[in-house]
Amino acid sequence: MLNGECQLPGDKSISHRVLMFSAIAQGTSTVQNLNTGADVLATQKALQQLGVKFSEKNGLLHIHGMGFGHFKSDNNALKLDCENSGTTARLLCGLLAKQPFDITLVGDASLTKRPMKRLVSALAPFGVNIQLASSHGDPNDFPVQILKNTQLKSANITLPVASAQLKSACILAALQAEGQSHILEPLPSRDHTERLLKLYGANIQHENNTVRVQKSKLQAIDFTVPGDPSSAAFLIVMALLCEGSDFTIKNMGLNPTRIGYISVLRAMGANIEITCDDPNAYEPVGNVRVRTSRLIACNVKRELIPNVIDELPILMIAASCASGVSHFEGIAELRLKESDRIETMIQGLRALSIQCKSTEDSVTLQGGKFQTGTVNSFDDHRIAMSFLCAKRISNLPIEVLNTDCIATSFPEFLEFVK
Ligand code: S3P
Repeated sequence: MLNGECQLPGDKSISHRVLMFSAIAQGTSTVQNLNTGADVLATQKALQQLGVKFSEKNGLLHIHGMGFGHFKSDNNALKLDCENSGTTARLLCGLLAKQPFDITLVGDASLTKRPMKRLVSALAPFGVNIQLASSHGDPNDFPVQILKNTQLKSANITLPVASAQLKSACILAALQAEGQSHILEPLPSRDHTERLLKLYGANIQHENNTVRVQKSKLQAIDFTVPGDPSSAAFLIVMALLCEGSDFTIKNMGLNPTRIGYISVLRAMGANIEITCDDPNAYEPVGNVRVRTSRLIACNVKRELIPNVIDELPILMIAASCASGVSHFEGIAELRLKESDRIETMIQGLRALSIQCKSTEDSVTLQGGKFQTGTVNSFDDHRIAMSFLCAKRISNLPIEVLNTDCIATSFPEFLEFVK
């Protein structure tokens, strides 16, 4: 059972953005409750290499903004290591689109396999010039080379997929381009970039799936990062499925583009109460109380996928413990994450005797009871945490291999599954 209350480290998506936007703002920003994982640290280290200064005092991080166009390179072959972080790599391509020097982005074995071509195509109309290793016949897109460039033009972009990383890279290029740009995505993805940039004073409007951006200067902010709703999802599902739980997560991010999983869980019968003081805040925050519940199967539709994209593995764990057959459709993007999450989830669920099947873009599974087995996370943090939740829920000696990756997003998680 899970009882009492907790407060979680800051949201990973927001933390990356606050670091990057503060770096290009004028003045010193002060940030509290930054995410503590290795991905966000990779963004911070990359910015340090570009000359951004950080200082810490009494739990507050001060970021000394440089304004646009003042990053430095102390050699002609600046190489930034994005490690395991797709958000670092994609957003840096937009942030660094207009620099008077070439920049190379590298990453670990998993990032190296993740796609960058569609990002290169989306940024091309702004005049951004990025070379991928694959354009020289390499099987991988990394290393990625952002070629020096001193002029960007505004553009009207229709993105091929709903992806906040692609959209954010385009917005960051548009902020540095003369004129007004429009970015349209097929379905609305998480909108932290749009909301935060308004807070930094940018000239940006967004509604549903359209963003309008004008060249802007940013001003420093003081900001407390809301607790990470994606990290919370693991604790929420554990609390729902462990007998006798009554557990509250305080100060959790409640941005509507991130909490689609709560609607899914409620439709499955979950007892989840939310209190939010100011739903109109730039980034709404509130308390989430969860009590043990009996769950029924879910049917997660294509339109909801961008809002639950990172929670699909833990929702599949919840569905494995629910009565009936659950179906997840339109989830092909899962194949392009830190692992092919359709494949890694199917392998893991089968190892625990859950009946399930997949197509290129869907998963269907029959709720039942986990049996003990060995599961490989394939070095994917969300797969590792999902199956550690299965272990805690079932109380079986399930073995989860390769759990060090949890440190990329939520190092504190292991405290909750001891
Ligand atoms: C993220 C966006 C999502 C998500 C990732 C973080 C972001 O990726 O899966 O973990 O911070 O913008 P896509 O928007 O590319 O699907």
